[in-house]
Amino acid sequence: MTEAAKHSAEPARTVPAPLPPLPPDVSIERVRDRFDGQDSRDIFAKVVEFTLIERAQALGVYPFFQPLDNNDGPEAQIHGRRVLMFGSNNYLGLTRHPHVVEAAREAITRYGTSMTGSRLLNGSILLHEELEGRIARFLRKDAALVFTTGYQTNLGTISALVDKRSVAVVDKLDHASIYDGAQLADGEILRFKHNDARHLDTVLARIPQHKAVLVIVDGVYSMGGDIADLPAIVDVCARHGARLFVDDAHAIGVIGEGGRGTASHFGLEDRVDLVMGTFSKSLASIGGFVAGPRKVLEWIKHFGRSMMFSASLPPSCTAAALAALDVIENEPEIVERLQKLGTLWREGLSSLGFAVGNSQTPIVPVQLGDEYTTVVFWRELLENGVYTNPVIYPAVNMKEGILRTSCMATHTEEQIAQALEVFRDVGRKQGHIS
Ligand SMILES: Cc1ncc(COP(=O)(O)O)c(C=O)c1O
Repeated sequence: MTEAAKHSAEPARTVPAPLPPLPPDVSIERVRDRFDGQDSRDIFAKVVEFTLIERAQALGVYPFFQPLDNNDGPEAQIHGRRVLMFGSNNYLGLTRHPHVVEAAREAITRYGTSMTGSRLLNGSILLHEELEGRIARFLRKDAALVFTTGYQTNLGTISALVDKRSVAVVDKLDHASIYDGAQLADGEILRFKHNDARHLDTVLARIPQHKAVLVIVDGVYSMGGDIADLPAIVDVCARHGARLFVDDAHAIGVIGEGGRGTASHFGLEDRVDLVMGTFSKSLASIGGFVAGPRKVLEWIKHFGRSMMFSASLPPSCTAAALAALDVIENEPEIVERLQKLGTLWREGLSSLGFAVGNSQTPIVPVQLGDEYTTVVFWRELLENGVYTNPVIYPAVNMKEGILRTSCMATHTEEQIAQALEVFRDVGRKQGHIS
């Protein structure tokens, strides 16, 4: 049992005896399809017989929307029990950093809790512009534009640029917000095989010359923790005259010089046209940004619907992101610590015998298999004091469930060793490792 579990407010719950396999017809897709086609005027009709969630809850294997009682960073409390947090995007652990907390508090005192309007009208404050300037300097780009979430950043950026005579070319494993942005756009969407620059080359070669092209990749893939093959991708884009947009949501603060992301990691900052990031991960806040040429951002600012028709980032979140940037710039050693602990965590899981895919970062997927096996493993880890995130169909392919794990710069080596012990014990018990 871990230290965290020993200090729990409640005795550890015992895991019930192995559960019977779930019937094969309970995947969300199939259940939804079954009712989509039904002949009813009532739009709620499909909902009535959708019982998958209740059934999973009754079996004790429903893993989503689990409220934390508290979140201290490397440890959290859930259902009254302390757990080691290995499922957070708070990679640098800055959500509790005194400078960040104080900046958010001061901003509320000065500006109030919300700007109650879009950036376009009454929602802009000088803090937004200060943050934009700071990000542009940090990433060595001409300018930056701040949105209310990372999701909205992708929606606004892609839909503003990809018009009727354009094509968005996306990696198969790009984040949902990229797909949604491409859907909102008027142009065509084409996909290429995950991180396969040769296939990208083939896809680009088929696009007629009169069409404008935006290639969009994640810098660090949010589920696999693998890094985009930018050296090959930038060359392919250049050869075909395509612009490149990199989603660095999981790369800022994590890889590159002082946490400057994927282009910096490869020394290719000049060869990436647009970079987006979020404040909701290493930057300890919420919100998003896109950085690139000022003229292009002016366009996005006036045609990105998610910027124009949604209220701006609250002052406290803006100030928290600014303060987190201060910390990253003044204490770059925290990024190095994250990278060092990430290696310890990844190699620890791998040497226990778990399949961790192609992760090269502190985001480490533990590949488990079918949906049920994945949630049972997740639950037993939690029972033993380790918090992780189960990712199952439709977020990944059917029967390719993973536990998405990640470590933080604020974990101790001892906490990593404790969590690895729990993984070893649960993994052996459930027959995933020997
Ligand atoms: C790769 C990627 N892009 C964009 C986003 C959206 O960011 P946000 O949570 O700030 O809306 C996420 C969030 O999970 C992400 O993982």
